[in-house]
Parts: sequence; C-alpha cells; structure tokens
Amino acid sequence: MKLILLGPPGAGKGTQAKRLEDRYGIVQISTGDMLRAEVAAGSPVGKEARAVMEAGQLVSDDILVRMLASRLAQPDAGKGFILDGFPRTVPQAQALDQMLEEKGLKLDAVIELRVDDTALTDRIAGRFTCSACGASYHDTFKQTAKIDICDACGATTFTRRADDNRETVVARLKAYHLQTAPIIPHYAAAGLLRVVDGLAGIGEVSRQIDAVLATVR
Ligand code: AP5
Ligand code: MG
Repeated sequence: MKLILLGPPGAGKGTQAKRLEDRYGIVQISTGDMLRAEVAAGSPVGKEARAVMEAGQLVSDDILVRMLASRLAQPDAGKGFILDGFPRTVPQAQALDQMLEEKGLKLDAVIELRVDDTALTDRIAGRFTCSACGASYHDTFKQTAKIDICDACGATTFTRRADDNRETVVARLKAYHLQTAPIIPHYAAAGLLRVVDGLAGIGEVSRQIDAVLATVR
C-alpha cells in the first residue's frame, strides 16, 4: 500500500503513520524526521535546513526531492510506504508523480487529516518525544502510562522539538495554507483524495483511516 498523509502541523500525521506502519507492515517516510536527523548529524543539508525549520518555513524543493528519491530507492520502501510531510508544494507533488511513474507505481490514497488551526497550537505545544525510540506523546492527549517512562521502550528521557513553540507554529500554519494546501486539488482531481476528521480523538481518527483503506485495498 502506498499512501500520503496530508495535513497541517499537529494534524496527527506522525501519530497515525506510526500506527499504520505497525498495522500494515509498510514504512513511514517522514521528511521532517529525516531533516531533523540531518540537523542532529550536522551534515551540509542539516546546516542549510536548520534555520529554515526553526523559522517554520519550508526547506527547498531541490533538497526534499533528492532526499525522497533516495529514500524511495531503499529496499524497505518496496513493500509500500506512508509519506508523512511530503509532498508539501506543487513542484514536490509533480516530482513525486514522475518518480512513481518511472517506477511503475501508483498511489492507493491521499488521506487528508482535516483540522482547524485553533486546535493545533495546543497539540503542538504539548508534544514530547522519547529520546531513545522516538515514540510521540502529549502532555494532555497522550500521556505515558507511568510518569516519565516511555511506554514503548522504558527510557526515561524525552525531548521537545526546536520548532514546537507558539510563534513558529503560526509560521508553519501559514506555510501550510499558502504552499501545501494547493496540492489538495491535484489529488482530488486524480480521484485519490480521502478526507478524515482529524479533530476526533486519536483512536477515532485511526478507525476512520482504516475504514478508508478498506475501500481502496
Ligand atoms: P514535520 O516534521 O513534517 O512537521 P509538521 O508537518 O509541522 O507536522 P508535525 O510533525 O508538527 O505534526 P503531525 O501532523 O505529525 O502531528 P503529530 O502526530 O506529531 O516538518 C517539520 C519542518 O521540516 C517543516 O516546518 C519544514 O521546515 C521541514 N520540512 C519537512 N518536510 C518538508 C518538505 N516536504 N518540504 C519542505 N520542508 C519540509 O501530533 C501532534 C501532537 O498532537 C502529538 O503530541 C500527538 O500526541 C497529539 N495528537 C495527535 N493526534 C491527536 C488527536 N487526534 N487528538 C488529540 N491529540 C492528538
Ligand atoms: Mg510529524
């Protein structure tokens, strides 16, 4: 299965992508996670991306298209994938179409997690992640079962993203509406777009996604 999860910052793309990975045995490809790894490694791409990400803006299409092409060429993507955070501009969507066509592949669905901006700031401001395994939590909506212990791996240290502050979230939302939302009609016209209510609870969103996938498989 080959899917795109689309939605503004905090819509729940990462949360749902992780669950889909487990449920369907396909890999999550998160361009945000890949860029954060480059920043942490201090690579040339990371050095270029760091300030852009901290300002809540989009990293260049050139970098992202190259990064995605090399990720899709890895063997684990052959079984299927969930794109989380890509494409984010019309040129990225066009580049993806071309990459898939060259490989003789077709997307099964583009799932838009539809939310309104007011809910997102609270979601993002409350997010934290396990430093060891990357499992994602929320101060209110998804707490660890035992205080300060990761449910998934038992580690006890957590991190918060550098771009998860209220000022940067405003810039990220603006970038979404101006640069990313215009790709939605592209997938609607291709008959691939499915809309899910991203304001529902995490479990309900998962159920809605499963219902969509049952119709496309
Ligand atoms: P990226 O990492 O993709 O961030 P984003 O799109 O801003 O989205 P988030 O990761 O913040 O949100 P999410 O939808 O994954 O939500 P989550 O599941 O974590 O990109 C970061 C930056 O990298 C960009 O700003 C850009 O600079 C750069 N970049 C990346 N890709 C790029 C590209 N293709 N082109 C150019 N630049 C690129 O959920 C959020 C919180 O809410 C969590 O705490 C979660 O527990 C909670 N939550 C989730 N679902 C629910 C629910 N249903 N109810 C209540 N709480 C919920
Ligand atoms: Mg994410």
